Amino acid sequence: MPPAVASRKPRPNGLRGRRGRRLKRSLVRDPAGLKESWRAVLADLEVEVQEIKRRGNETIVSVMYEDIERGLSEEQLKQLKKTGCIIVRGGVPKKEAAGWLEGLKQYIAANHDKVKDAARTHPGLLKTQAYLLSLWHSSIDTPVSVRTPVSYFDRIRIRQPGPSSFVLGPHIDGGSIERWEDPGLRKCFERILEGGDSWRKHDPFDIAPRLSANQDLYNAPNQCTIFRPWQGWTALSRTSPGEGTLASSRSSRPRQPVVPREHAGMTQALLPHLHPHLRLDETVVPIPTVEPGDQVYWHTDVVHAVEGEHRARANRLSFTSPRCPSQRRSDALYIRDQRETFLKGLPAPDFPGGEGESRFVGRGTSEDVTTVEGRRTLGLEPFSYPPAASEGERRMIDLANNTLGF
Ligand SMILES: [Fe+2]
Repeated sequence: MPPAVASRKPRPNGLRGRRGRRLKRSLVRDPAGLKESWRAVLADLEVEVQEIKRRGNETIVSVMYEDIERGLSEEQLKQLKKTGCIIVRGGVPKKEAAGWLEGLKQYIAANHDKVKDAARTHPGLLKTQAYLLSLWHSSIDTPVSVRTPVSYFDRIRIRQPGPSSFVLGPHIDGGSIERWEDPGLRKCFERILEGGDSWRKHDPFDIAPRLSANQDLYNAPNQCTIFRPWQGWTALSRTSPGEGTLASSRSSRPRQPVVPREHAGMTQALLPHLHPHLRLDETVVPIPTVEPGDQVYWHTDVVHAVEGEHRARANRLSFTSPRCPSQRRSDALYIRDQRETFLKGLPAPDFPGGEGESRFVGRGTSEDVTTVEGRRTLGLEPFSYPPAASEGERRMIDLANNTLGF
């Protein structure tokens, strides 16, 4: 899971003081135009707030896995691109997900760990992720392949009943101050910063400007260093609102105001007193009930949180899934290093070090991953060109294979 918002102390070098003023000045090229767009955003936002108040979590797209296999309808795609959050049901049969849960219990009891590898490479998950990744677009010569998902190793989340000390208030992952400070990441939101009516032309599914964005300028702990077009997890147990589930707001078209008061090295938190127009207490709503094997994904810019209270009696488990990173050069390097740590049973590069599972008995190995697609996502087999691959895709896949030593 992403970094905690509330549990870390603020760091220095935020946007206060002379440095902050300079940065803010560089952001605002057309003050009158930005004010005009701000007013328009607020008006538009109010309409969205009212809709979420009226419909609650019904605004979140919920589809069956067969819909993904067929391809989503125009209406579903429209809603997904608006809300940036989707639940895919039935991609992993309930029985199979229940088997993973059993395997995890055994793992905890006896250090037996093959379940994560099965989940990382399950066809129902890979196909869903490949589909969602393909909703991003680029031009033919952009060196990226949105049709080639790779795996990002993350954690298993066990939510015990009761209040949590690990509170995740509303936040957006993938950098904080970097959004304003890093020229690459700032470029992703260029249209919004232009002022006037330009913010309506912001395209949150354009992958090209994301390729040169640095979302981790300060080597923040627990910061994901590779770009994740989607984040997601797979439920291993039935989880309902009020049971410590994910809460999501619609924000794939960033409507949050430009109020850069972030601290370096922290996730971008959204706080009621800094972002009153977002009405976070009303618009961040818990996702509907999910069953074992259901998948939940949200766009990289979506505001999300984890409920602070889990009122049910039993533990709730979810698997943080592979997250469809694309094949950027830095991603390829990460996958290379992640493969090394995986083979040695060590924590993945973005996570705290230590010996990890290296001395565990019955640890999952590369031999446990038998499908070609599954092995590719872990960097164990060379990637192949997707059908009718563009020049950019070919370049990227060649580079990835080369980086991985194939
Ligand atoms: Fe997060």
